[in-house]
Formats: sequence, structure tokens, C-alpha cells
Amino acid sequence: MTAQHADFSAVVLVSGGGSNLQALIDAAATPALPMKIAAVISDRPDAGGLARARKAGIDALTLQKTDYPQPDQFDAALSAMLDLYLPDIVILAGFMRILTASLVHRYAGRIVNIHPSLLPKFPGLHTHQRALDAGEREHGCTVHFVTEELDGGPRIVQGRVPVRPGDSAEQLAARVLEIEHKLYPYAVRLIASGRLVCKRGEPWLDGQRLREPLQI
Ligand code: GRF
Repeated sequence: MTAQHADFSAVVLVSGGGSNLQALIDAAATPALPMKIAAVISDRPDAGGLARARKAGIDALTLQKTDYPQPDQFDAALSAMLDLYLPDIVILAGFMRILTASLVHRYAGRIVNIHPSLLPKFPGLHTHQRALDAGEREHGCTVHFVTEELDGGPRIVQGRVPVRPGDSAEQLAARVLEIEHKLYPYAVRLIASGRLVCKRGEPWLDGQRLREPLQI
């Protein structure tokens, strides 16, 4: 069981290995991130993120897409599951589904995602290969609030890495993932501390509208 702090609570949604989840679990075990991860939910029963959650003593739940073939059925079940925990924030950490408008509206301003590109460049999949194909000299990741537009919500913070000559997509992905693990706890900490809020679809930091994403 990992010690976690504070009243601010999160539910994390994962589909894969959950290395970003692990970074959040580790941060929430320190006073630096005053947040309790109440549950981890996956659309895949074999997601590595579920095992990480169990190891940390966090409720680990699965919603199988075969049981809810339509997106609105899946999201209704997900919504009901979230209501069991009433989280202050829903954190998408490699969750490979697009949420329906109704779920996004229900948690408007309280869902965040991490995307492996410098948005608005390369929304969607295969971002590392696309960055290489485009000849980018720099690549990175973005934490943003989730709206109905895929990878299009207000950006909070970005982290950058160089693209090196001869990089493969895998090498570039590994370099980006390393900074994702710093970026996500940093962004979530801003929200958990109340410094960063999303009001009327805009991010505000310390009472000032955040016109451009922070860079770390
Ligand atoms: C990360 O690259 C994240 O940016 C993307 O999916 C990947 C998830 O990796 N959304 P992990 O499961 O956190 O290791």
C-alpha cells in the first residue's frame, strides 16, 4: 500500500502499461502532490496499469468494451463507475478511447489528458513517426484539458525534446515518455493545489488567463 495525501481525489483511466500512472502514483505518495488516486479504470483487463494500481493498493476496475459495444453504452457505464468515486479530476493516461460528448460535458474542465506531441501538431495516433516524417527538429508532449475535439482542448503545459539524427520512432517515443513522467505530475499538482482551473473553456493560472501553454 502506498501512502497518499489529501482530499483532492482522482480517477485515472488507462489502456496500456501505465508508466504515466506510475509517475502519478509515485508523486501522490509524496507531499509534493496532495492527491488521492481513488481508482484506476481500464477498458482492457490485461492493462499493465491495473497491476500497478493493485500493487499500490488502489481500486483497479475494468470495463470491457465487448460488454458495451456502443460508445454511449460504454461511457454511461464509465460515468456510473466514476460516480462511485466522485473524483475531483479524471486523468487520462494512455486511455485509447474517445470519450462521448455527454461524459466530457459531465466532467467539463475536470478531465485532463497527456498527448505525445507538441499540440496542435500531430493530434491522433503515431505521433512519433509523423514527427520524424515531417522532419521536425523538436518533439515533445502536451497536457491539456479534454473537450469534444480530439486532442484539441486547452493546453496546460508542454515538454520538449530534440529529434536526433537517425532516431527511430521507438527512440523518440522513449525520449518523450521520460519527460511525460515529469510533466503529468507537474500539471496535476497545479490543478490539485487550486492554482490552475479551467473556466468557460479557458485555463487560468494564479488568476491570470493562460494564453499559451507553460513550457518546462
Ligand atoms: C503515452 O505516450 C501517452 O502520452 C499516450 O499514451 C502513452 C501511454 O503510456 N497518451 P503509458 O501507458 O503511460 O506507459
